[in-house]
Amino acid sequence: MNVIVGQSGGPTSVINASLAGVYQAARKAGAEKVYGMENGIAGLLEGRLLDLNALLDEEIKIELLKRTPSSFLGSCRYKLKKAEEDESEYKKVFSLLEQYQIGWFFYIGGNDSMDTISKLSEYGKRIGSPIRFVGVPKTIDNDLMITDHTPGYGSAAKFVATVMKEIIRDATVYGTNYVTIVEIMGRNAGWLTAASALARGEDSEGVDMICLPEIPFTVEGFLKKVTAMQKKKKSIVIAVSEGVKLPDGRYVCELSDNVQDVDSFGHKKLTGTARYLANECAKALNTKTRAIELSTLQRCCGHLTSRTDITEAYQVGGAAVLAAQSGKSGVAITLVRLSDKPYQCTTGTVEIERIANFEKKIPVEWINSTHTDMLPPFLDYARPLIQAELPPFYVDGLPYHITAN
Ligand code: F6P
Repeated sequence: MNVIVGQSGGPTSVINASLAGVYQAARKAGAEKVYGMENGIAGLLEGRLLDLNALLDEEIKIELLKRTPSSFLGSCRYKLKKAEEDESEYKKVFSLLEQYQIGWFFYIGGNDSMDTISKLSEYGKRIGSPIRFVGVPKTIDNDLMITDHTPGYGSAAKFVATVMKEIIRDATVYGTNYVTIVEIMGRNAGWLTAASALARGEDSEGVDMICLPEIPFTVEGFLKKVTAMQKKKKSIVIAVSEGVKLPDGRYVCELSDNVQDVDSFGHKKLTGTARYLANECAKALNTKTRAIELSTLQRCCGHLTSRTDITEAYQVGGAAVLAAQSGKSGVAITLVRLSDKPYQCTTGTVEIERIANFEKKIPVEWINSTHTDMLPPFLDYARPLIQAELPPFYVDGLPYHITAN
């Protein structure tokens, strides 16, 4: 029996630790060959498979894989049509899986990617296929239902909180009026933007305002708050989610003149919120402004990962194999928190339909009454996820990465 694994959706800096977990557990469970889908389901449909036994044939390569950010196998944002509408892709996938004698199919991804697992396992059941389909969670957005958190979030959160501390230090040097707006990913969920609240501590005053997609946003209200803040303090540092929305449902970034791409799941490309708001501040207030878009950097920060996150990313890969081995299919692995202090977490499984295509938002009770900051329950939730480090292997002064080609 052979195994296949794919990576899908936006990368994280620890997604390859899950790949390492799947690979090692699958070999241990007796899989003869482990194949990788090149560019996820899109590549599989074109018959593009990678031989992981050959690519990961030494222990050091596994260790490098755990420390290499972004998707080693390549990724895709590809939505399968419903089988009732078009069966051709399903026939193609199942015939390829049969050809390569695949028994277990693993897909490492977020809520969109779980849609793929859901559709394939449903179709497999319908045609009486014995192949088992298991989803392995990942996303910096942390917006998957049921699971306590998602692998990838802890490292991105650590990066965001770290750079916020650094930005705050830099923003105060001139002692003049200055508004810095930092745009953070996360789409319609503010988990990652909220992580900027972790920057506050005995050595940092922390960010002055956090704007989340969970709270409707008005430009006028925002400018009023900044004006009031700047009367008390010259340098204001603001964390803004890329997904903040106006009361009419439009994203704030849609007010800018950016070209708006849409992916195959119908998601708009969100970018330009910080730039737009910084310009509005500069027009309305007598202040210098700067817009910082963390963009790709927050999800490929292999030099600043959370060891807790890497460990859990590896564990969910192994747990997915154990789930398949025990006969489960059409499920995703979850992280189940047992306690905050000390932090303890284990893995579980959930039926894929309860995860696919849903988005988990921040509970509003975790946001303060003026909608500018996070309350202690969020800090208690997020802080354990950023603990400890796993530095890259450095060669010639730079992190060394493993690549598939
Ligand atoms: O995967 C999640 C995510 O990183 C979001 O936070 C972000 O909006 C999106 O992906 C960006 O996607 P892409 O890489 O396709 O532009």
